[in-house]
Amino acid sequence: MATDTISLRRPDDWHVHLRDGALLEAVLPFTARSFARAIIMPNLVPPVTRMAAAEAYRRRILAALPPGLDFTPLMTAYLSDDSDPDEIERGRRAGLFTAVKLYPAHATTNSAAGVTDIAKTYRVLERMAALGMPLLVHGEVTDPAIDVFDREAVFIDRVLAPLRRRLPELKIVLEHITTSEAVDFVESASDTLAATITPHHLLINRNALFSGGLRPHMYCLPVAKRETHRLALRRAATSGSAKFFLGTDTAPHPIADKERDCGCAGIFAAPAALELYAGVFAEEQALERFEAFASLNGPRFYGLPANEQRITLARRPWRVPQTVPTAAGPLRPFLAGEEIAWQLQS
Ligand code: NCD
Ligand code: ZN
Repeated sequence: MATDTISLRRPDDWHVHLRDGALLEAVLPFTARSFARAIIMPNLVPPVTRMAAAEAYRRRILAALPPGLDFTPLMTAYLSDDSDPDEIERGRRAGLFTAVKLYPAHATTNSAAGVTDIAKTYRVLERMAALGMPLLVHGEVTDPAIDVFDREAVFIDRVLAPLRRRLPELKIVLEHITTSEAVDFVESASDTLAATITPHHLLINRNALFSGGLRPHMYCLPVAKRETHRLALRRAATSGSAKFFLGTDTAPHPIADKERDCGCAGIFAAPAALELYAGVFAEEQALERFEAFASLNGPRFYGLPANEQRITLARRPWRVPQTVPTAAGPLRPFLAGEEIAWQLQS
């Protein structure tokens, strides 16, 4: 008989774009209703590189939090060629910076100030290794000669593998993995390497971008890959391995910015993210491993305690809203208008 409810420790989301201003206000409740903590990505304009900017952003997030929701933002520093190891260390020791995010320059949304050559950041990375501070990696090369569907696999060969050989003790999270090459690389690495997996990469392959026409709301980076890769991600997420954990990469952009010529990369996953993950684990007959993926593996890797509160999800169909209004224009959630099998009990 199919299980109808599941109870687990309250989960965390280890990869979130909360944006700022009107968008922050509109999207934060969707993350805070499901997740106790979230890693807040620093790709604002301008990027969050310094302690002062991170502290101010943290305060804006807490000010936008609706009363009654218990939520802790975990701030990150945006790594650039001229990041200062002392500033990163001060931020870590002050309890402000939980991690540092590496965007290769021009790899994705708001990454113009990213890293042009990893060698320029070695002093920072060595300091982080000494502090036990995780590096969060957007793992795609930006070389225009590389096919867009190969950019993650080539990044692993050209950048990540050499970095791991040089600094094996540095904790690294390979974010939003999309390929079987990434799954294999993480599985065969030591326990200083882990990966997050998004709900959309567990649910769609690249056909979704072109089904019946061009589908901008299925477009994110790294872009979805072919079906064999999606199946490898589902196996990894539900395998019980402690190296894989939940990170939605919820990345809202107003519909007008998604549907224009040269539309933005990013899927607004937050409105149904936790429920969609639960559905994947149910389909894979792996609900008994869901708590590890959602609530235990992430905190263990980051060296943080698991949450004490518990939540319950029930098999009870509901529909994802078509749009989410914001003062900066409406947003289209992932799978807008579709029926979702699981629901978070309030
Ligand atoms: C993210 C965004 O919009 O900030 N977009 C995305 O497609 N995932 C940036 C990122 O995480 O690459
Ligand atoms: Zn992201």
